[in-house]
Amino acid sequence: MCRHLAYLGDPVSIGSLVLDPPHSLAEQAWRPRRQVHGTMNVEGFGIGWYADGDPIPARYRREGPIWADESLPDIARVTRTRALVAAVRSASAGTESGAAAAAPYAEGKWLFSHNGKLMGWAAAAGAEMAWPAVPDDAATCQADAGPAGPDPDAAAVRRLAEQLSAAELLQLRSHCDTALIWALVVKRLRAGEPPAQALSGTVADVRAAGGTGRLNLLLTDGSVIAATAAGDSLCYREVPAGVVVASEPYDDEQDWQEVPQESVLEATTAGVAVRPLSSPIAIGREEMPAMTTVQIDRRLPERFFEASLRADVLAGLKATPKSLPPKWFYDERGSELFDKITRLDEYYPTRAERSILAERAAEIARLTGADTLVELGAGTADKTTLLLDALRDHGTLAEYVPVDVSESALVTGAERMLARYAGLTVQAVLSDFTEHLGLPESGGRRLVAFLGSTIGNLLPAERAGFLAGLRNRLREGDSLLLGTDLVKDPAVLVAAYDDAAGVTADFNKNMLSVLNAELGGNFDLDQFEHAALWNPDAEWIEMRLRSTADQVVELAAMSLTIPFAAGEEMRTEISAKVRRAGIAAELAAAGLAMRHWWTDERGRFGLSLSVLA
Ligand code: AVJ
Repeated sequence: MCRHLAYLGDPVSIGSLVLDPPHSLAEQAWRPRRQVHGTMNVEGFGIGWYADGDPIPARYRREGPIWADESLPDIARVTRTRALVAAVRSASAGTESGAAAAAPYAEGKWLFSHNGKLMGWAAAAGAEMAWPAVPDDAATCQADAGPAGPDPDAAAVRRLAEQLSAAELLQLRSHCDTALIWALVVKRLRAGEPPAQALSGTVADVRAAGGTGRLNLLLTDGSVIAATAAGDSLCYREVPAGVVVASEPYDDEQDWQEVPQESVLEATTAGVAVRPLSSPIAIGREEMPAMTTVQIDRRLPERFFEASLRADVLAGLKATPKSLPPKWFYDERGSELFDKITRLDEYYPTRAERSILAERAAEIARLTGADTLVELGAGTADKTTLLLDALRDHGTLAEYVPVDVSESALVTGAERMLARYAGLTVQAVLSDFTEHLGLPESGGRRLVAFLGSTIGNLLPAERAGFLAGLRNRLREGDSLLLGTDLVKDPAVLVAAYDDAAGVTADFNKNMLSVLNAELGGNFDLDQFEHAALWNPDAEWIEMRLRSTADQVVELAAMSLTIPFAAGEEMRTEISAKVRRAGIAAELAAAGLAMRHWWTDERGRFGLSLSVLA
C-alpha cells in the first residue's frame, strides 16, 4: 500500500515530480502499475520539501485523494525545491485516515515515509493496551478487532512498542503502524546513526521482535536519501542534476533502475549505493559511497597514498640534500596541529586572509555569480563559511566541493557545511589537488578557491604546472580565487614559522610520525629539531628538520635504512611569498587574467580573483 517518491538535485518544481509525469503519484493513487498489494491510494497524500536557507522542511498533507485537491496544482507548479518527499496513502485497517497519518512524517530536518504494512497493527491497536490517545483531529480509527486469541503479529507489534519509552509513544504523531516505525527510526537517528543504517536497523528491529510485513521505508534530510526495498517495489533514476527514488517509475523512460528486494539504498546527487539489508553496514575505505551523511569521493585509489609516499621517500631521502613534500604533514594529528598554528599570535596569514574575505565575500559572490564552490586543500574549511554565506545570500549557492588529502579534516568541514546550509550538496573529494582537481562537471558557474597561500608550498615549476592544468579544466564563467602570502619583513615571516610555543616544531616533526606509522619507521622525534629560514633569493620560507646526531633510521615497510649526519637538514616545506606583479605574471603565463586584487589593511596577504584570459 502507498506509493512514495524522493528527489535530490538542482531546483525543480514540485509539480514536475509529483503531478506532471505520465505515471505520476497522482496517477499511482488510483492506478499504480507496480504495487504489490492493494490498488488504491486515496486516503491522503503528503509532500514535504526544503527551501534554500532553511534546514527544516515544509509539509503539505491532506486527507483524501491527491487529484481532488483544488489548490495543489498551482502550488506545485510554482514551488521549486532541491529536495522533496511525496507520498500517496492507502489506509490499512486499524489506522486512521486523516492528514496526520499521511506521509511524510517529520522530525527536525528529517522527512520519512513508509510504503507497506506492519502485520498485527490492527489487532494490537484494537486490543486493550497502553496505547496513546489519538488527538481529536486525527480522525477515525477503524480498528478491526482482529482474530480472538493470541496473535503472533500483534504480540510482535506490542514488543516493538515496548522498545519505546512512554514519552516516545506519546509523541507518536498518528495512530498507525507507520508512526510506530517512524518512532523506532527516530530513536536511531537521535543516537547518531546515519540514515541508511537507521532504516536497515529498524527493519532488523521489527524482524527481531517477530514482526512481519512490508517495510519499504524512505528517509531524507535534504542531502541524502535512504530507502529500503523490503516487500514492495522500489526503483531509482539518476538524472543529470539529481536523483529520484520512487516506489515505481513515473514514466516509461529506460533509465529507471530496479532495487532488488531486501536491499537498502543510499543516494546523493553524487551517486547511489545499494546494499543487501542483511549485511552489516560497512564503512570500508574503498566502499563508495560510505554510509555517512558526508559522501567522500575517493578519486585516488587507496594505494595511491601508500605508493606516492613510497615514491616520495625514495626520491627525497636518497637525495642530497634530503627533502620530502609537505603533504605528508597532514594526518589527523597534523591537521589538528595546523589548525592550532592558525590560531597562534605569530601566524598572521590565516587572520589576514579571513579579514579580506570578510570584507570582500559579498563582492566576490556578486562578481562570480557562482553556484558551486570548489575548495582546493579545504582542510577543516573555517574560512569557507564566509564565501558560502555570501553565495547563499546572493542566491546562487548549490554545491560545495571540498578537496583535501586529510579525510578527518574533510569530514569535519563537510559535516559542518551540511548542517549549516539547507539543501547544500556537499561532495567531498579525498585527493591531492596536484593530482585531481575535483571539479564537478555539473552545469553552472564554478568558483575554485585555493586559499591559505597553499600554492606557496609548490615549487615554481609545480606552481606553473598546477595553474596551467587548472586553467585547462576551467570553463568560461568560472573563476579562481587565490590566496597568497606577501613578501614582508623576514623577522615577521620567520616568527610565523618558528613560534615561541613550538607548535610549528611539533607540526614539522609530525611528518616523522607519519613515516613511522605508514612505513614502519623508527624515527626518534627527539633526535631532530625544527628549523625555519628565509631564503631571500627565492623569496620563500623553508622548513627543515635537522638531525641532532649521527644516526641511521629504518623504514621497515620499505626495507630502507637512511643515514643522517649530525647537523644534516632535510627540507619538509617551502612556503613561497609573492608580490602582486609576480603572481599576476604567473597567472598570465597559465592563461588566466587577474581581475581583482585585494589585501588586508596591513598589506600582509593578497587575495586575487582571476578568470580565463
Ligand atoms: C598550508 C600553506 C597554509 O605554508 O603557511 C604553516 C602551512 N607550514 N606553518 C603555510 C604551514 C608551517 C601553511 N599553508
